[in-house]
Amino acid sequence: MTTRPRTVGKLPLPELAEMKRRHDRIVMVTAYDAPAARLADEAGVELVLVGDTAAMVMLGHESTVPVTLDEMVFLTRAVTRAAKRPIVVGDLPFGSYQPSDAEAVASAIRLVKEGGADVVKLEGAGRMAARVRAIAESGIGVMGHVGLTPQSATKLGGFRAQGRTATAALELYRGALELEAAGAFAVVLEAVPAPVAAAITAALSVPTIGIGAGPDCDGQVLVWHDLLGLYAGGTPRFVKRYAELADEIVEALGRYAADVRSGAFPEDRHTYSIPDDELAEFEAALSEQR
Ligand code: KIV
Repeated sequence: MTTRPRTVGKLPLPELAEMKRRHDRIVMVTAYDAPAARLADEAGVELVLVGDTAAMVMLGHESTVPVTLDEMVFLTRAVTRAAKRPIVVGDLPFGSYQPSDAEAVASAIRLVKEGGADVVKLEGAGRMAARVRAIAESGIGVMGHVGLTPQSATKLGGFRAQGRTATAALELYRGALELEAAGAFAVVLEAVPAPVAAAITAALSVPTIGIGAGPDCDGQVLVWHDLLGLYAGGTPRFVKRYAELADEIVEALGRYAADVRSGAFPEDRHTYSIPDDELAEFEAALSEQR
């Protein structure tokens, strides 16, 4: 990653719009615990998303649907303890904002107040633009998300690219504009053809963050476990792996297991000593007890 001058303390949200204006690309990555958040902060990313992908990559579910708001609050809290400079985005899980504007605002408040999130994200346009407006009007920054919206993957016909007909592309374009008009500070474009994402990016004054949406978005996001080779499930074509940590972990665990079984671990340097006189007194006391 190219290094940029580091601001001290939390990155201000308006800086993202400034970055779009300057054509500086924005980096977002997901994280679900404190160690990952600390590393993302150290690497200098602008945004850390506590995504509802946690359902799949952390909690072992088949989709993002089952994760609860309580679970998202718990994970978000862990991330916000460690991510000092990046803006932390708490993801509103399925069912926590769809029923009504009031429920959307209440759920967003929980992610901010209990989880410590700086801002929140939700999926969809159309009726969901009203939820974005309600949350933004309550004083909480909202990131939109259109294209492949995994919470409605069943309705969309599975985890597949969106906006591949002129009609569908236009619907996406209009949806993204609606989200901006409703007050979204940025919009995620997931699994969208690159020229469609480029047109949306050019039309919006707020940044777009792409995932499988080509190179012309204002920023990019990848899921932690995909990017680092930690997820055992399928890898979408838009993922680039920057490490194969699962292989390294299995290899390291194998060496640890072999050392335990052979007695090679622990060595003297891994153990604590006791002064000779204390040991002698201890052994004497033991023999008196027998
Ligand atoms: O939940 C998530 O991780 C996401 C990203 C894939 C954008 O929404």
